[in-house]
Amino acid sequence: MCPLRLIVSWGVLLAAVQCFEMNMTQYFEMPQLYDFDDYDRCLQEFGSSDDTATYCFVRAEVQPNDTTAAWRAIQEISKYDRHHFDHRQLYFGLCVHKCEAQLAELDADAIQQLQAGVLTDNAKVNVYLELFAMESANRARYNELSNACLNWRLQQRNFGVQAKSVVEYCDTTATAGKVSEEDDPWNLGFYVLVCALILFSCLSSLVDLHLKRRRHDKMLKERDHYKTPPRSLVTRLLLTFSIARNWYRLNQEPNGKIGRELRFLDCFKFFAMFLVIFAHTNWVIYESAISNPQDPERMLHTAVGTLLISGSLITVTFFVISGLLLTVNWLAVTRALAGDKNETWSLAKYAALFVKFNVFRYIRLTVPYGFVLLLSGVYFENAGGPLWRHIYQREQLACRKNWWTNFLFINNYVQTDERCLLQGWYLAADTQSFALSLLVLILGHRFGRWSKQLYGIVLGIFMLLPAVLTYVFDYYPIFLPTPQIQKDSFIGDRQFTEFYTSFQMNFGAYFCGVLAAIAYDQLSLKQYKLRELRSFQVFWFSLIPVGVLWLFTAHPIYQHYYTETPRFWGAIYATVQRNFWAFGLSIFVVGMAAKVGWILRKFACLPIFRILGRLTYGAFIVHLLVARLALATVREPIYFGTGTMFAYIFYVLCASYLSSLLLAIFVELPVSSCLKLLR
Ligand SMILES: *[C@@H]1O[C@H](CO)[C@@H](O)[C@H](O)[C@H]1NC(C)=O
Ligand SMILES: *[C@@H]1O[C@H](CO)[C@@H](O)[C@H](O)[C@H]1NC(C)=O
Repeated sequence: MCPLRLIVSWGVLLAAVQCFEMNMTQYFEMPQLYDFDDYDRCLQEFGSSDDTATYCFVRAEVQPNDTTAAWRAIQEISKYDRHHFDHRQLYFGLCVHKCEAQLAELDADAIQQLQAGVLTDNAKVNVYLELFAMESANRARYNELSNACLNWRLQQRNFGVQAKSVVEYCDTTATAGKVSEEDDPWNLGFYVLVCALILFSCLSSLVDLHLKRRRHDKMLKERDHYKTPPRSLVTRLLLTFSIARNWYRLNQEPNGKIGRELRFLDCFKFFAMFLVIFAHTNWVIYESAISNPQDPERMLHTAVGTLLISGSLITVTFFVISGLLLTVNWLAVTRALAGDKNETWSLAKYAALFVKFNVFRYIRLTVPYGFVLLLSGVYFENAGGPLWRHIYQREQLACRKNWWTNFLFINNYVQTDERCLLQGWYLAADTQSFALSLLVLILGHRFGRWSKQLYGIVLGIFMLLPAVLTYVFDYYPIFLPTPQIQKDSFIGDRQFTEFYTSFQMNFGAYFCGVLAAIAYDQLSLKQYKLRELRSFQVFWFSLIPVGVLWLFTAHPIYQHYYTETPRFWGAIYATVQRNFWAFGLSIFVVGMAAKVGWILRKFACLPIFRILGRLTYGAFIVHLLVARLALATVREPIYFGTGTMFAYIFYVLCASYLSSLLLAIFVELPVSSCLKLLR
């Protein structure tokens, strides 16, 4: 009876919310969010050898005026700030020649009337202004003209409202497409590095080919040569960059029992990455310009909207997998090192292990990451566009300024308004979790008798902590990537910086992965056949529908418009949403490792995922760059529909994985072979 009632009440709730109707008459009383003059025409028509054409990207904020319908509509619609854009914030792309022509007929008095002032008090805009500090001359020169021009346009269209504005940057015929002096040290550094990598790979491959030729062994097949490591250290070092060899390493079957049992994780990683790319491509679309903002806004009021908002749970998958792999490694290493069972290890031995784990992980992660960081800061000839610098150059500048926060893996706490590689927050939180988990594992190993209590306490603390923090700091119970927050690129968003990306909120999920590995280890030590337990099978399969329903639990909170969520229950939900998901996922993973899952497991173990899984890290670090490259060149607002969206997503997915393949062959795998030599 009870489940049925639950389902019915869910149905009622879902249906109730579908009823939200936007008053479209009112909607179109508002000024459009985006108004761009033709960028190429402006620069080509008015730019000649003796005259430079100028095109400015201007941020504007509509000023209150209760007597106008436009302002009332803006207030009414922007009130739903979890679902809608903030319609006060407008983007203008103004062709200076055109503006001058439009204002030419007006006298000085009328132009004075059109001035509403410079926008100085918008913190999010100011972050951009500070990054584009080199534009201050253009700002001083064009602020007044552009303000009069855009207010004239608002007046022409009878909105009755005026807007304050500020020039973010201007492109001229001379500068469009390139951003500064071509070859500064950063660029040169990148080119030198690329040349060096290509050179090493060629040399290494040639040496490898030569070795293969010299070995006249008819019994040995072509590829066996590439699969057998050479004997001497020097040859090994010479061959680390060999392309053929690295290709085979990418394809290599996992070795060992654990590797085989956990190979399904590659599939999980790939699908989770697909969803991450899905979400992030949408975000970059929001960051550029959309011709039909009303459609995504209305969609967010439906169950699909809840699903999209809850989709942020996907990152939990990576935390769990990461914690699991760390612990599996740790257990293997400690077993291998343990001679006598009862011997206690010295502090120095633990310290050495701790340092070694961290250093190896750091090098493995940071070398490809550093390459992408370097690439993100490179200036190159580009196709420009009114939004290019807003979307693409912002990150270039942020990377040149704040790359060190990424290298230290503190970018989820420091300089969070000028993020370089925004997705890097995950790596930072993961690194912090890694170090703490390792510490806990070491303590658990040293004081083996108390390990259960220790793990229990740590888990308890980090399950409770998100609730306490949410309560104390009054966070919203779920992470909320609203359209406006995405459009502002998460700048100045407390919910993102403090609630979503911080270590303390995510460690619970990571630790679930650690415990999953310990449970898995115990099960395989005792050779316990989880698969033969009928009740566990049923439980395991029921996790799938429960997981889907779990995504919808955010529905009443997200779609409840007029009442605040009670603070206490909100805090409880904040911790339960992510941690239960992590906990369920851990059980799911342990089950699958114990060969539960029938056809799902077979599918997840397909060999294709072996390669895709290994390329996932690379795809993760480049995908936003790829998405930005495509979307930053838009000239006009694009239509946001399912087709367009999937076209972009498909492109970003393919291009990211292909770039990741190159990154793996030329950077990641050589580094990991070098590390193997050091072991
Ligand atoms: C929609 O908005 C228009 C203009 O503001 C108003 O005249 C009309 O009554 C509204 N319709 C509804 C159903 O609220
Ligand atoms: C508000 O709008 C009305 C009509 O367009 C205009 O006459 C009035 O001056 C505006 N008020 C302010 C404070 O801008």
